[in-house]
Amino acid sequence: MSTDKSSLNKKYKILVKKINYHNKMYHTYDSPEISDNDFDKLYSELKAFESKYPELVIPESPTMRVGSKLLTGFKKVKHQEPMLSLANASDYHDFLSFYSRLKKDLKSDDFVLFAEPKFDGLAISITYIDGYFFSAVTRGDGVTGEDVTANVKTIKSLPLELDGKDIPSRLCLKAEIYMSLLEFQKLNRNLSKNNLKTFANPRNVAAGTIRQLDPKIASERNLKIFFHGLIEDDNFTDETHSKSLDRISKYGLPICDLNRIIGSLDDVQEYINHLNKIRGKLSYEIDGIVFKINSYEQQKLLGLTSKAPKWAIAYKFKSIEVKTKLLDVTFQVGRTGIITPVAELKTVNIGGVNVGRASLHNMDEINKKDIRINDMVYVKRAGDVIPEVDRVSLEDRTNSKIIKIPKKCPACGTLLIKSSENSIYKCTNQFNCKPQIIQSIQHYASRKAMNISGLGESIIESLIESKMICNYTDLYQLSLEKLMNVERLAEKSSKNLLNSIDQSKNNSFDKLIYALGINEVGITTAKSLARTFENMDSLMSASVDELCLIDDIGDVVAKNIHSYFKDDNNKINIKKLLKLGLLIDYTTQNHNTKLSGKTYAITGSFINFSRQDIEQLVLSNGGKVTSSISKKTSALILGSKPGSKLDKAKKLNIAIINEGELSKLL
Ligand code: IVH
Repeated sequence: MSTDKSSLNKKYKILVKKINYHNKMYHTYDSPEISDNDFDKLYSELKAFESKYPELVIPESPTMRVGSKLLTGFKKVKHQEPMLSLANASDYHDFLSFYSRLKKDLKSDDFVLFAEPKFDGLAISITYIDGYFFSAVTRGDGVTGEDVTANVKTIKSLPLELDGKDIPSRLCLKAEIYMSLLEFQKLNRNLSKNNLKTFANPRNVAAGTIRQLDPKIASERNLKIFFHGLIEDDNFTDETHSKSLDRISKYGLPICDLNRIIGSLDDVQEYINHLNKIRGKLSYEIDGIVFKINSYEQQKLLGLTSKAPKWAIAYKFKSIEVKTKLLDVTFQVGRTGIITPVAELKTVNIGGVNVGRASLHNMDEINKKDIRINDMVYVKRAGDVIPEVDRVSLEDRTNSKIIKIPKKCPACGTLLIKSSENSIYKCTNQFNCKPQIIQSIQHYASRKAMNISGLGESIIESLIESKMICNYTDLYQLSLEKLMNVERLAEKSSKNLLNSIDQSKNNSFDKLIYALGINEVGITTAKSLARTFENMDSLMSASVDELCLIDDIGDVVAKNIHSYFKDDNNKINIKKLLKLGLLIDYTTQNHNTKLSGKTYAITGSFINFSRQDIEQLVLSNGGKVTSSISKKTSALILGSKPGSKLDKAKKLNIAIINEGELSKLL
């Protein structure tokens, strides 16, 4: 490089560093040192420089945050270690059980906890290589996530280059992406101004934004990030989680300033009270507190279950409730035709989110709570749960109107049928009632089912309206030519959709069973069915009695399954799926696991295992765990200080085994 070029290059890099520094002071530390105007001037200078000397541009330049290219999809990436979930404590009593388990498992009460807010956002794993931002992968199903690097790169508080000394050559971190409440309200205001659908909460925006194919959208949405843990760090010498967070904060990574070291139960209470008091005033949503063992050595000693670390717990906040007026009740048709009354409310802000609708569940619930139109009602929103009407404020009641269920389906006009046992109203026109068709296709395509991406509600609706599909089997007859006529679909997304539909043709038996949407057959029941039946034919011809023999399947579910496969329409659909090239993979079911087909109840505490370990052992060997004893229970696993399950097992003559016998069995 000529000296001229080399001094230009130097000047350019200084400018990049300077802008990145001011960017960090503004977005990460909330303490800008220069005016917005001066910042804009520096930025324009940089852009002019880069357009004159494009060969000098470096990836950590702030202009490189937003790629101009549209993405074609997200590459699937396997996590180097599974991204686990957290065990929950719903009250202080639950927390104390966790605390005493720590004492017992560590055989000491010499431990320190670290407390952090539980950010209500989107989990992400982020990698820096040689101090430069390298990749971002979503949690996905915990084992495999999606590479969303291009979108995450647009987050302005995420440093593209780390600061400080001794930066590890490979640093992999856990973080949460979120949207501030202010940004959320701004976005929803704009959407509703333009008659567009608003988002229910900031978490949904964060998750939706990170999966947009145009990184410009992510850039405009102003998302933020908090880092809350290490996954891999090849410079690792820290003894505690808090020391790691201190260190990575020195690299310029955003860490929450509400994090605290907790030395005693008094500190725990104080922290809970403090966060409860300030959570409504925070600029972002939190749905609880995460308590973690601070020492890495003790974390290792405690270990993990297949789902969550044993050294941490998420203490969930109680829901916030607000009083508002019930203006009207509308009736929604669900996937299986069940009619759900929905409360149309005078919009209220509950914990930072505007709520205008809430579920009333069913007519029984309405009658039990004596809810009437024009009543003042208390509405609750608990974390990620849909808002619901909790109770009526009777002292406010004036000219209230009784809520009546319509006689006909609000979508297709078919006469509703009432099931006598549970006063549920149902539209039985499942093959021709639009909301039922849309939702059954959505269910078929969902991640736990056939995992077809790119099939949102509005696309399905357009496909139905343009008569391209009437049910999920028609998905396999779509073509690029057909899709190009759908207004909402561009060529690229049509190709992606077709690709995803094609990939769904090779799916496991349990996923297909679940995808069919049989009443009350969730993924666990689908798995049991797939384990029990050799193939689709044998499942389709199973009798109610045969189905009842499967643990966890009672009379009602057995009858649902049986009548589903007796229905001619369903039989035709399944035949059609196979004709259109669906290949069911029967190999992934573990037919031969040692406890397959058996159900165990557990009572008491154990010497070598925690209760969760025992549950895990049973599940991972193909067995089931039940919380109550019945004639179908294969055995009771008995620990010391058993509860009432022991008496019940004796009464019903159920086999009783201890932890040693269980180990032998395996
Ligand atoms: S630690 C092994 N700390 O909560 C999992 N998680 O329910 C360790 N989350 O997917 C997670 N705030 O994304 C941790 N301060 C925090 C968190 C946090 C939010 C999320 C996390 C995880 C989910 C688990």
